[in-house]
Amino acid sequence: MNRLLALWDTTVGKKVAMAVTGIAMVLFLVSHMISNVLIYTNPQHLDDYGAWLRSFGPLLWVARGGLLTLVIIHIVAARQLTVRAHSARTAAYSELDLEVATYAARTMRWGGVLLVVFIAFHLLHFTLGLLPPGFDFRPGEAGRNVMVGMQTTWVAVFYAVAMVSLGAHFWHGIWSTFQTLGLNHPAWNRSRKVIAIGLAILVAGGFLSIPLGAMLGFLHP
Ligand code: HEM
Repeated sequence: MNRLLALWDTTVGKKVAMAVTGIAMVLFLVSHMISNVLIYTNPQHLDDYGAWLRSFGPLLWVARGGLLTLVIIHIVAARQLTVRAHSARTAAYSELDLEVATYAARTMRWGGVLLVVFIAFHLLHFTLGLLPPGFDFRPGEAGRNVMVGMQTTWVAVFYAVAMVSLGAHFWHGIWSTFQTLGLNHPAWNRSRKVIAIGLAILVAGGFLSIPLGAMLGFLHP
């Protein structure tokens, strides 16, 4: 435990914490996105996904607590790394790294805030059915709830904007993970760029297709 705390105190330790919590969240999101796009084959598949989640009983609460802990560790480490980077910047950046770092500084912080707001809204929307006012939420009918919920234009637009932000966050996050793992040899720059962008487009694009599909009229109850 003491060793873990000592590691957490170092910059590398915080970067590792961000990479590990990020990878765990990516795994959750890949499975969540796949479950969601099954709505195109049959909305009932999404109901089955919800029922499957609830079948874990109290274990689901352990998983929810775990997910929340991952988000908190990820945010705290990000915040502390930003503070450290501002007070003492010693790393030498290559031109490519500088390009990514500048992009990241501009978008990561506000993108991260938007994602936190999105998650809070999302849970109140599709898990608890409390938002937006007047939403005809039916417990246990996740597929139908998604199709009905996305018919409200501002909700679909909000989801779409949040998913674009998720894609940008993913892109930089995956890129940084390669960096943390030491996979930053110039010869691999092209491949890591392609992998980071490819994964971001795949996961965020799968999610994005749902609000877009509703706005374009091919996903409806
Ligand atoms: C278009 C995009 C998305 C759709 C349509 C969607 C749909 C859903 C639905 C229907 C549920 C409720 C399942 C049930 O309880 O029956 C759910 C739960 C959840 N979603 Fe999403 N989701 C989307 C994107 C996301 C994203 C991007 C995140 C995280 C950043 C996320 C995180 C969660 C979490 C944490 C839960 C709660 C799981 C639980 O503990 O019960 N979702 N989502």
